[in-house]
Amino acid sequence: MRLHVADHPLVAHKLTVLRDASTSSPTFRQLVDELVTLLAYEATRDVRVEPADIVTPVAPTTGVRIADPSPIVVPILRAGLGMLDGMTRLLPTAEVGFLGLRRDEETLEAITYANRLPDDLSGRQVFLLDPMLATGGTLVASIDYMLDRGAREVTVVCLLAAPEGLATLEAAVGDRAEVSVVVAAVDERLNEKAYIVPGLGDAGDRLYGIV
Ligand code: URA
Repeated sequence: MRLHVADHPLVAHKLTVLRDASTSSPTFRQLVDELVTLLAYEATRDVRVEPADIVTPVAPTTGVRIADPSPIVVPILRAGLGMLDGMTRLLPTAEVGFLGLRRDEETLEAITYANRLPDDLSGRQVFLLDPMLATGGTLVASIDYMLDRGAREVTVVCLLAAPEGLATLEAAVGDRAEVSVVVAAVDERLNEKAYIVPGLGDAGDRLYGIV
């Protein structure tokens, strides 16, 4: 598993405002969108391209375009939805699938409650969006879902990760697939309620309110 921590002053600045408990939901949503676009730049570094012959106003030349089959972007509902526009802004031709997983607050296990994905993901580059890599349970379940459907290249885009979750993910994935994790920061630890410390609180609640 490859880990990429985006090291950029704009990322650090936006993340600091996100962490601040006094930041309002509208500002939080806007900043998540901007931050994900910066992370998407790193996350798409290995997106597959193929040669494309074009004619400029001056001369014929060969460039590249995103190869078929197109990548698929999968926000993990609900908080991952707040990352979708930021990601598709850089990958407008990607397809979008949806996976609804929530954490059972007692067992901390991931439970699937919604799924809209192609049955066959062979040869597809998958981009999973989930703001918080905490215990890793949701992302391990999501990656398993993708691998069961034939995907072998999965890039996870998160705002924050805990060392515990990264270790869980690494152990679960092994050498079954090429998995990359792109994050804005790796925080200190999880607390007794499995929240990331210092973190930013409940990402879903901060994006969409407590419903
Ligand atoms: N999910 C969140 O939204 N925040 C955390 O800190 C951990 C899991």
